[in-house]
Amino acid sequence: MSPKFQAPRGTFDILPDEEQVRTRIESTARDLFGRAGYGRIETPVFEDTELFARSVGEATDIVRKEMFTFEDHGGRSVTLRPEGTAAICRAYLEHGMQKLPQPVRLWHLGPFFRYEAPQAGRFREFNQIGAEAIGSDSPLVDAEQIMLLDDLLRELGVPGIRLRLSSLGSIDARAAYREELKQYLRAHEPRLAREVRERIDANPLRAFDSDDEGTRAVMAEAPTMLDRLEGEDSEHFDEVRRLLDRAGVEYELDGTLVRGLDYYTRTVFEFTCDRLGAQSGIGGGGRYDGLVEQLGGSPTPASGWAAGVERIILALGEQHAAEARDVFVAAADGQRHQALALVTELRRAGLRAELDLAGRGMKGQMRQADRIGARHAVILDENGAAALRDMASGEQRELDPGRVVEEIAAARG
Ligand code: HAM
Repeated sequence: MSPKFQAPRGTFDILPDEEQVRTRIESTARDLFGRAGYGRIETPVFEDTELFARSVGEATDIVRKEMFTFEDHGGRSVTLRPEGTAAICRAYLEHGMQKLPQPVRLWHLGPFFRYEAPQAGRFREFNQIGAEAIGSDSPLVDAEQIMLLDDLLRELGVPGIRLRLSSLGSIDARAAYREELKQYLRAHEPRLAREVRERIDANPLRAFDSDDEGTRAVMAEAPTMLDRLEGEDSEHFDEVRRLLDRAGVEYELDGTLVRGLDYYTRTVFEFTCDRLGAQSGIGGGGRYDGLVEQLGGSPTPASGWAAGVERIILALGEQHAAEARDVFVAAADGQRHQALALVTELRRAGLRAELDLAGRGMKGQMRQADRIGARHAVILDENGAAALRDMASGEQRELDPGRVVEEIAAARG
């Protein structure tokens, strides 16, 4: 019989056996960002709907069909955040961070929400680690950020990573290119999928992402923004590439790289992982030089990225082994209070210690010690005498009950 209630579609419970890998991802990120001078920021899980509509873009899939939006009891429209950049720019302005030395460098980790069709690696609630550097247009920032994400994936040991790199040019250049692309799409309209045809005006770049065969054939010949880069945009991108080349970071130039958010300008990138199948994007980002201004600030160039925690876990494919315990205290019936006192003492000494909480007999307790992977068992017999058993070798010896903590700590090495 299936249980009456299940986690909502596209969501999941995080069970204790996944705790270790999640903690490792978080602490690796914290270390990495700490070394690079990034400070942590966390913004609310919901925001004014308008913030996302304006930043992410009215014509994007995210805003059109993936936001969890509702009216609160005060009649305001609020949305569970589908991404982190908009809110971080909001916080940058709200807290007057323009007055700090620029660029302001921030990182975050937390849950995000998108109403997408669930499949492997695609959820309705998922977690992102992200980085933003607000207040510099230097190509050094682009390169440094790409290298930070590269390092994060490397330090975590994510296999089969590839980097796709492109540039969308500045806002004006991108607008001119969009017009050119719209004309190209109109000229080939009969061969395009209906969904693409319907969105020629609203979001022509999305055509590069289509799975439809006819559309793909048309897009293979389409002009890309990369072909049209000129002047300062071109110099900026060349410098980002030179910096990556010098640092030995490998990438593939890909003018068809489209990000699902409208705020990007100039450099865009995406890391993919061969292990992930259809949802191969493990992390991505780029520059968004117009966003802060769009939200009411003065012109402020910025750049950032986010990576999916669940996709990292999937890519790692780790067996989440529970951490081994140092000691299990097994006790005869009359000695259970002693067992509780002893595990408390052992825990205070920094050891991982457990006792039987299910009224098992001595044999059952030893089986439990084995099951949890305890290195040692302390056995308290009915007379209060203690013995120490090495669970791997089965060797057992008597123990002075007053010296259990020292002996276990010594045996642990
Ligand atoms: P994004 O590419 O939409 O970028 O998301 C970043 C990462 O979040 C993806 O590469 C993927 O690993 C993960 N992700 C996205 N959607 C899902 C989902 N439904 N289920 C599981 N994982 C998912 C952004 O969100 C931008 N804010 C990144 C950025 C920061 N750009 C500049 N600054």
